Amino acid sequence: MTSDPLRARPPADPRLRTPPAAAAGRDVDPALYRQVVGRFATGVAIVTAVRDGTDHAMTVNAFTSVSLDPLLVLVCVEKAARFHDVVLDAGEWAVSVLTEDMRDASQWFATRGRTLDGQLEGWEHTRGPATGAAVFSRAVAALECRTHAVHDGGDHSIVVGEVLGLDVPDPDGRPLLYYEGAYRTLA
Ligand SMILES: Cc1cc2nc3c(=O)[nH]c(=O)nc-3n(C[C@H](O)[C@H](O)[C@H](O)COP(=O)(O)O)c2cc1C
Repeated sequence: MTSDPLRARPPADPRLRTPPAAAAGRDVDPALYRQVVGRFATGVAIVTAVRDGTDHAMTVNAFTSVSLDPLLVLVCVEKAARFHDVVLDAGEWAVSVLTEDMRDASQWFATRGRTLDGQLEGWEHTRGPATGAAVFSRAVAALECRTHAVHDGGDHSIVVGEVLGLDVPDPDGRPLLYYEGAYRTLA
């Protein structure tokens, strides 16, 4: 059997399956962790918020729906990110789930240290009626949220939002996907 866990094939008899050595103990390799969790295919979204009249935005793929009653979603925000304190301070935010032609926007809003002034220019957007946060026009889905809870998640905060509003800005758009560290599109 090959030593690469991503290439390893389980033995035919399921009772003979053993977890890869790295996964059995606490010494899980962070690089392997990134590789393995990166095999969970996701969409790509930009979270936006306004603080003191300034627009902020950040690319995320750690976004998921949580609850139907009440309506809750979550986004995981790295504590070291500039956006972290912004989203906590703002208390209200929007999520735009990107179309495939927003790949450049995804890269731009994942660029640390970019200037905030005019950072939304060039990306068509409107203002969410509930929050005033930017909602991108090239989005397959958009949600406006108010922070419901914030949980510790290691080097990230798990920000749970109550859904205040929903929109489908680009009904014919095709979603931008992210898998194994690369952008993808639906076949
Ligand atoms: C496809 C993709 C997905 C990302 N997902 C997340 C995420 O879910 N949470 C997060 O904190 N950062 C995520 N990032 C990284 C942030 O976008 C990046 O660190 C950003 O520059 C932070 O900006 P800021 O420090 O200016 O706030 C992602 C980046 C990319 C390209």
